[in-house]
Amino acid sequence: MASRAPLFFLVICFCLGHAKSFIEVVCDKTITGQVNLQSMLTCQVETTQEIPDLTITLVVWKKQGDDQFMSVLDKRDGKGNKFQPGYKVTLNDRTVSLVITDTQVKDEGVYTCHVTTDSGIAKTTTNLKVTARYNAPIVDSIDEEIVRNAYKSLICKATGGYPKGKLRWFDEHKMEWTASAELTVNKTEDGLFELFSKLPLMKGSTFSQYTCVVYNASGNKEDSVPIILQSTEKEPYKKPLSAIIAPVLVVGSLIVGLLFALLICRRRSQREYMSDIWIEV
Ligand SMILES: *[C@@H]1O[C@H](CO)[C@@H](O)[C@H](O)[C@H]1NC(C)=O
Ligand SMILES: *[C@@H]1O[C@H](CO)[C@@H](O)[C@H](O)[C@H]1NC(C)=O
Repeated sequence: MASRAPLFFLVICFCLGHAKSFIEVVCDKTITGQVNLQSMLTCQVETTQEIPDLTITLVVWKKQGDDQFMSVLDKRDGKGNKFQPGYKVTLNDRTVSLVITDTQVKDEGVYTCHVTTDSGIAKTTTNLKVTARYNAPIVDSIDEEIVRNAYKSLICKATGGYPKGKLRWFDEHKMEWTASAELTVNKTEDGLFELFSKLPLMKGSTFSQYTCVVYNASGNKEDSVPIILQSTEKEPYKKPLSAIIAPVLVVGSLIVGLLFALLICRRRSQREYMSDIWIEV
């Protein structure tokens, strides 16, 4: 048994060395592209030995999970490039790239780069992440008829972002009200997100300004828009009960006092009349 071990080890070394060839493709693990802008997935062809006159003959980019996607740069005699519209493969010395002219959410994913050279072949993968900045939110106030004890709701809408972000609400004292709000998330056809938040204003709330803030997927603030409530938009001012009772009491006692005075006057004049009669008789 012991005598076979070195042979076994040798076989493994040979196989690994052979499979590896002298070529390696090295890419960034993740590249971030922005929607509507150009993205470039770039890899280096490296050699495990000194090969001064390495010739790259074929570069093929494929997308995992998308059998349709294939962009080919072919330098072999009698062959031609096959680029999909909006995608191009470039080769500059030992740098190979896939150029995406107008990046969209659908381009997100894992790409495989296959490289063929006169000294061997190699392939590797790279991950494209896509981001899009949210548009400035639009904030408005509406009459509230559904939520109980609310007289108005503030609404905030931010569109055109990716990946899914967040909307948060603050009052003028920087107090957060997000927990009272309801967030709705929609995805548009192009994969971008629409965030929609409704914050009901309860009876008795007296803040005059709220701010809607949109955050991107990594929690960075992207934009904020304040809304100032006009005094007519604030809850209609209701007088407390004591403020109503006090005038009633004052007016009431005045009336009672007047009536009393009237009664006394009448009694007196009646008595005088009676005494006049008495004298005449
Ligand atoms: C979300 O999508 C639904 C259905 O398509 C639509 O009725 C609703 O208005 C959308 N919401 C927003 C905030 O755009
Ligand atoms: C969020 O915004 C920060 C700062 O602008 C940026 O560095 C980051 O890449 C953004 N993240 C996403 C997922 O958009």
